[in-house]
Amino acid sequence: MTRLDPPRPAPAGGAEIFGVRFQNPVLLAAGTCGFGRELTGVLDLEALGGLVTKSVTLEPRAGNPAPRVAEFDAGMVNSIGLANPGLAVARDEKLPWLAHHVVRPRVFVSVAGHTVDEYVALVEGLHEAPGFTGFELNLSCPNDQRLGGRAFSLDREALEAVIRRCRAVTDRPLLAKLAPNDPDLADTARAAAGAGADGLTLINTLPGRLLAPATGRPRIGAGQGGVSGPALRPVGVQAVHAVSRAVDVPVVGVGGILRAEHALEYLRAGAVLVQVGTASFAAPRAAAGIIRGLDRRRDLPPPWGPGPRTAEGSSPGAAGSHTVSSSPLETA
Ligand SMILES: Cc1cc2nc3c(=O)[nH]c(=O)nc-3n(C[C@H](O)[C@H](O)[C@H](O)COP(=O)(O)O)c2cc1C
Repeated sequence: MTRLDPPRPAPAGGAEIFGVRFQNPVLLAAGTCGFGRELTGVLDLEALGGLVTKSVTLEPRAGNPAPRVAEFDAGMVNSIGLANPGLAVARDEKLPWLAHHVVRPRVFVSVAGHTVDEYVALVEGLHEAPGFTGFELNLSCPNDQRLGGRAFSLDREALEAVIRRCRAVTDRPLLAKLAPNDPDLADTARAAAGAGADGLTLINTLPGRLLAPATGRPRIGAGQGGVSGPALRPVGVQAVHAVSRAVDVPVVGVGGILRAEHALEYLRAGAVLVQVGTASFAAPRAAAGIIRGLDRRRDLPPPWGPGPRTAEGSSPGAAGSHTVSSSPLETA
C-alpha cells in the first residue's frame, strides 16, 4: 500500500482529526458540491475546512428520472440516483483537478457500492490517486445482495464486512456515513468503529415522499427520495449526541445546517466537524458564511475552542479521544 497523496502545506492553527489537520470545522457534504470544480467562481474553495465529493460508483451512472429534487416548507426531497462519472473519470480527471486547485481544505472521496466487493474495488481503485485525504463510505445505499435491498449500515454483517475489507486496502482516513433510520444507531456506530472506521458521518437523508395534492403523483421522478434540510437537523443533532457518547472516534455532523448557530448545535452535541449540504442550493456561499460566523465565536467546544460541548457541560468520548488534538480555530 503506497501513499501517493502529494505533500500539502499544513494550515496553521486548526485542529488535527484522524491524523489530519483541518483549518476549520466546515466541509461541504457529499452530493452537494460535485467534485469541487462545479463551484469555481461561486465559492472560495480554499476557505473551506474540506469537501466530500459526490458518491463515486464503479461504473458511470446517469441517475434517476427528472425531476430529481423537490422543495417543501422544511427542506427538500431528492432522488439523484447516484449520478456520477464513475471510478475511472473520478480517478483520472476529477481528483487530479482537485490536486491542483484545492490545497488547504481536506478532500474526502465518497464511494458507494451495491456489494461489499464493489466498495473494496472502489477504494483499491482510488487509493493511489492524487488530490484527496480520505474516503467517506456512503453506507446508505441499497444492498442488493440481500433481501429487501436495505442500506449497508442497516445490515450489521454487511456494514462490518465493507469497513473491515476497505480498512485492509487503504491507510487513508476512512469515514463511515450512516443512515438515520436505524433503531440501533449507537450499536451500529460501535460496530463501524470496531470494524476500523476512523470517524463516523451522521446523518444521511431520511426516506421521504412528496405528493402533488391534486393528483397524488409523486413530486420527484423516482417516487421515494431522501429528506434533507432544516427538517433533518434535530434528527442529526440527536444522532450525533447519542453516537458521540457511544464511540471514541470523531463524529462528523450533517443535516439541516444553514447558519453558524446550527453548526454550533452539532459541535455542542459532540461533532468535531460539520458538513453543509442543502443550504448550498439556496445560497451557494452558505458554507463561507458559516465559517465566518464560527470564526467570530470564542466559545466553541473542543477541539476548536474552550467552550462547553453541551448545555450540560459534559464531554462525549470523541472529545477526549486520542484521534483529536486541540488548538484554536484559525482566524481567516
Ligand atoms: C441533492 C443531494 C444529493 C446528495 N448526494 C449524496 C451522495 O452522493 N452521497 C451521500 O453520501 N450523500 C448525499 N446526499 C446527502 C448529503 O450529503 C447530506 O447527508 C444530507 O443532505 C443532509 O444534509 P443537509 O440537510 O445539509 O443537506 C445528498 C443530498 C442532496 C440534497
